[in-house]
Amino acid sequence: MRVNKEAKVSTAAIPDPILLQTGDFLLMADSQPFLSLDGDPVAAEALLQDVFGIVVDEVIRKGTSASEKVCEWKEPEELKQLLDLELRHEGESQEQILEHCRAVIRYSVKTCHPRFFNQLFSGLDPHALAGRIVTESLNTSQYTYEIAPVFVLMEEEVLKKLRALVGWSSGDGVFCPGGSISNMYAVNLARYQRYPDCKQRGLRALPPLALFTSKECHYSIKKGAAFLGLGTDSVRVVEADERGKMIPEDLERQISLAKAEGAVPFLVSATSGTTVLGAFDPLEAIADVCQHHGLWLHVDAAWGGSVLLSQTHRHLLAGIQRADSVAWNPHKLLSTGLQCSALLLRDTSNLLKRCHGSQASYLFQQDKFYDVALDTGDKVVQCGRRVDCLKLWLMWKAQGGQGLQRRVDQAFALARYLVEELKKREGFELVMEPEFVNVCFWFVPPSLRGKKESPDYSERLSKVAPILKERMVRKGSMMIGYQPHGTRSNFFRMVVANPALTRADMDFLLNELERLGQDL
Ligand SMILES: Cc1ncc(COP(=O)(O)O)c(C=O)c1O
Repeated sequence: MRVNKEAKVSTAAIPDPILLQTGDFLLMADSQPFLSLDGDPVAAEALLQDVFGIVVDEVIRKGTSASEKVCEWKEPEELKQLLDLELRHEGESQEQILEHCRAVIRYSVKTCHPRFFNQLFSGLDPHALAGRIVTESLNTSQYTYEIAPVFVLMEEEVLKKLRALVGWSSGDGVFCPGGSISNMYAVNLARYQRYPDCKQRGLRALPPLALFTSKECHYSIKKGAAFLGLGTDSVRVVEADERGKMIPEDLERQISLAKAEGAVPFLVSATSGTTVLGAFDPLEAIADVCQHHGLWLHVDAAWGGSVLLSQTHRHLLAGIQRADSVAWNPHKLLSTGLQCSALLLRDTSNLLKRCHGSQASYLFQQDKFYDVALDTGDKVVQCGRRVDCLKLWLMWKAQGGQGLQRRVDQAFALARYLVEELKKREGFELVMEPEFVNVCFWFVPPSLRGKKESPDYSERLSKVAPILKERMVRKGSMMIGYQPHGTRSNFFRMVVANPALTRADMDFLLNELERLGQDL
């Protein structure tokens, strides 16, 4: 069934409210439902079928094809014109609406493309996408069993599975809008557990607090400290070794220092899979320190948590079962799609609800006809909350834990392949041997080869990655991130996460960098 291309959204049914009389309002109440376009009851369905057809062609088929561009770069002013962004009083025709959809897709970056290496998320899992489509269509909020019966039960099942992989047979948890927010929740929970008064009395109830994390941690820890009123000064930065792992001895030292300065240590945030280098902090040793000082151990496993699925590699997170909380983003390494970010807790005392609950009587009535413990909305600071469990649940159902383990192992194997190929080529230099799927390296262009001793080598090398990045984006051939890091000049961080990647994509990356940088 196709849409009547000339059909317009019935603006007659949406008169200007300023000009309305009471009679007009009554007339409006009798008008066609908004989704029934121009009196055509099948038009809405046809519109969605057309949009879905465009999505299948342009995103799913072309967007994942290596022979298409990963992005179609336009300067912002030109892009504004191409998109016709202005919102007007008059509605537009169906044909124009479909054209807008096509333009949005055309000029958007295809994160599902096999040459999109730019972020810690990439790829497109069809089952997860099916889950996202069903979720969007049902459009409910996760807060009560009343309006989300399936998803309340499903969320608990998925969280239980993730907790079991951490090594907990009981506990609590919730899906959060991203790993940054999960980390902030952990800090808030640790603070509340120690100073329950602060929920009511706020910062007045608190002594100066100190939390500890390594210099390789994600920036959300500092943001969280600011957001929660602790201040960024309360974040004590612990030294990391040359591989990017927190040094437990320095953690000890920082704790003593903080105490000597009159601060009260309350939390350590270790990282399992650091953002740039992909390092795993030594959790056992850090847990020993936490145990000794009675500190909450949070593990930011937003990036590396999915490694727990792999029997071969899960040793990287040895000791994670000793944590009090874990942040884990399946939307990164497992490609479930944004967002899917779990905060897992060892706690069984209803800490989440006690810390964040507000008992809104219009939503969480205690005299409901079912078990009100199923109304999980008071565990979080949000009111409405997206459903984030279905995409992971459906993908897990289809793949099985076995299939997901294969994916993780495959990502490690491809990262290793890339490292070995890179070592064979002139002009590529590893920043370090990776232990995860972040492969960090410099591309040294012909003019800089053998010039390491020259005084301006670093300065010149740091200009290479930005130039190559511009070239690849303008060409649309691939996207890969770069950054400076400590004293190291700009280097590329290749992320091997998309489950559709093959050796050919790794070879392409190296060949393309050589092509793009041959004149430098
Ligand atoms: C280690 C780590 N923690 C937390 C985050 C933040 O996750 P999100 O982007 O979902 O907020 C990231 C993001 O890259 C990360 O690498």
